[in-house]
Amino acid sequence: MLKDNFGRKINYLRISLIDRCNLRCKYCMPPNGVDLYGHDKILTYEELLLIIKASAQLGINSIRLTGGEPLIRRGLIPFIKTVSNIDGIEDIAITTNGVLLEGMADDLKRAGVKRVNISLDTLKRDKFQKITGKDDFDKVFRAINKSIQVGFNPVKINVVLLKGFNEDEILDFVKLTKDKPLHVRFIEIMPLGESKNSWTAGYIPWTDALELVKREFEVRESFGPKGSGPAKYYTIPDFIGTFGFITPVGEHFCGQCNRIRLTSDGFLKTCLFGNNEVNLKELSKTGDIEKIKKAIVKGINEKPEKHQISNHEVSRFMSQIGG
Ligand code: GTP
Ligand code: 5AD
Ligand code: SF4
Repeated sequence: MLKDNFGRKINYLRISLIDRCNLRCKYCMPPNGVDLYGHDKILTYEELLLIIKASAQLGINSIRLTGGEPLIRRGLIPFIKTVSNIDGIEDIAITTNGVLLEGMADDLKRAGVKRVNISLDTLKRDKFQKITGKDDFDKVFRAINKSIQVGFNPVKINVVLLKGFNEDEILDFVKLTKDKPLHVRFIEIMPLGESKNSWTAGYIPWTDALELVKREFEVRESFGPKGSGPAKYYTIPDFIGTFGFITPVGEHFCGQCNRIRLTSDGFLKTCLFGNNEVNLKELSKTGDIEKIKKAIVKGINEKPEKHQISNHEVSRFMSQIGG
């Protein structure tokens, strides 16, 4: 079992498969996108599999695939099939913007994906276009229904809370959990990517959002759905789903952190807000799994106790780390 210097069990690896995305969410990317990594820079599937095997041998049992947008990476389905056969990997999940999900859901399920988190910041088509730059709301909404239908469990919706944009939709998102087995998580905006300097203007404290729901409904704390992440969950009597909050700013959860990250260009990051990085791409080229394991353990030994969100010098975009 992997443990860091603060006694935290590390069993969860988040992998950014690609830095590219088919949307341009305003808080994440500049309108013209970021400088993209060349194809030779991002990890090949072969390199990824070696790093995942090394991680699994050390005690990682849960994998989350993110991006950019993971579903735009070619050859994804056979790759996931192989990952699901790696000894020790018990859980494969995906975080996606949902645009391509409807058509891929069956194949992803068969390949071994157990659960999906879908990003959706508004329930209104025109606002969706405003925030993402694309008129793809209907596709994403259909993908949510399809995800329930094919049996991903749980299906979570990620809503980044944005002042002046979606606070008027918080109750509508919560109401979605009445009849559908959905788990809506409101995320506090973080100073990463496009929001690095402007995030405070859009910041809504999670407690304000919770108060707003409490004014309308009887709210109870809940264990929430299966997950490895940091959300806290609530439910409303007779509602099938749950809602929750991810609160990196208002109430950080570093004490329970169980995760490490792999950037699409092959660097191990042990904290979303840390700039300590270990170059696993270089090592994976040698094919030496023991060297990779050593480097991962070394990285974990240097994992910081908690993030310094307010004075952190961000070196990467969110789409390069995967959240
Ligand atoms: P599950 O609970 O397993 O479903 O995973 P998750 O909620 O961690 O995954 P997801 O990719 O949906 O992430 C949701 C939000 O949580 C994103 O905005 C992530 O950036 C954020 N997040 C996930 N892990 C961390 C973390 O360790 N630190 C911080 N600050 N944010 C995180
Ligand atoms: N702050 C909070 N969440 C963010 N995401 C992307 N950028 C930010 C940010 N600056 C969310 C996406 C997606 C998840 C992986 O991270 O909306 O749901
Ligand atoms: Fe793409 Fe996700 Fe960034 Fe939106 S938040 S632009 S969907 S990577």
